[in-house]
Amino acid sequence: MSDTDMKSSNVVWHAPVTTREARERRNGHKGVIIWFTGLSGAGKSTVAHALEDSLHSMGCHTFTLDGDNVRHGLCGDLGFSDEDRVENIRRVGEMSKLFVEAGMITLTAFISPFRSDRDKVRELVAEGDLIEVYTRCSLEECEARDVKGLYKKARAGEIPHFTGISSPYEEPENPEIVVDTDKHDVDECMKQILTYLKVNGFVNTNGV
Ligand code: ADX
Repeated sequence: MSDTDMKSSNVVWHAPVTTREARERRNGHKGVIIWFTGLSGAGKSTVAHALEDSLHSMGCHTFTLDGDNVRHGLCGDLGFSDEDRVENIRRVGEMSKLFVEAGMITLTAFISPFRSDRDKVRELVAEGDLIEVYTRCSLEECEARDVKGLYKKARAGEIPHFTGISSPYEEPENPEIVVDTDKHDVDECMKQILTYLKVNGFVNTNGV
């Protein structure tokens, strides 16, 4: 949030004594946001949790923020209008930024359908602190999977503003990673991201 948007006045930034760098040194890896975006049912949460499990086993400090879960608490006051989605992603972006400051590998699984909102999250953090993972899967396949039965309800007109049906999804233009979940299984997608993290020095090749 820019200073001009802030409602609170007379608040003074307090620099932490325990720095991000100190935390990263102790953790043995960098803090980073791995931002999964894609249609409902594309596999964002599934791949994110599989990746987190692998990283956790390697000794990395991780946390996953998941759309459905966050909407039970922090974002429980938000619905699915364009305006509410913008606010949802803004809050999650700010929270992810805090997690990165805490030195965590932070995985987020939100549809985050609007490019401008994803770009704003990227701008919140330093270059290289956000890895956008487009979890790509055709609408036809997501609808065929219909794990939560929501597409059927959306087609029946029971869920307004449903992404892909009655609300848009804007594909990422330059994501760091694209995982095609309708062509590769969870393990292959997970390993594709893990390889990226190792090759780019986010985690050590032999674990942390
Ligand atoms: S986002 O658009 O604001 O990023 P978010 O990822 O938090 O969405 O939540 C998406 C999840 O909410 C979906 O996986 C689905 O389970 C549920 N959901 C309920 N209503 C809708 C809707 N209208 N559009 C999309 N997802 C919905």
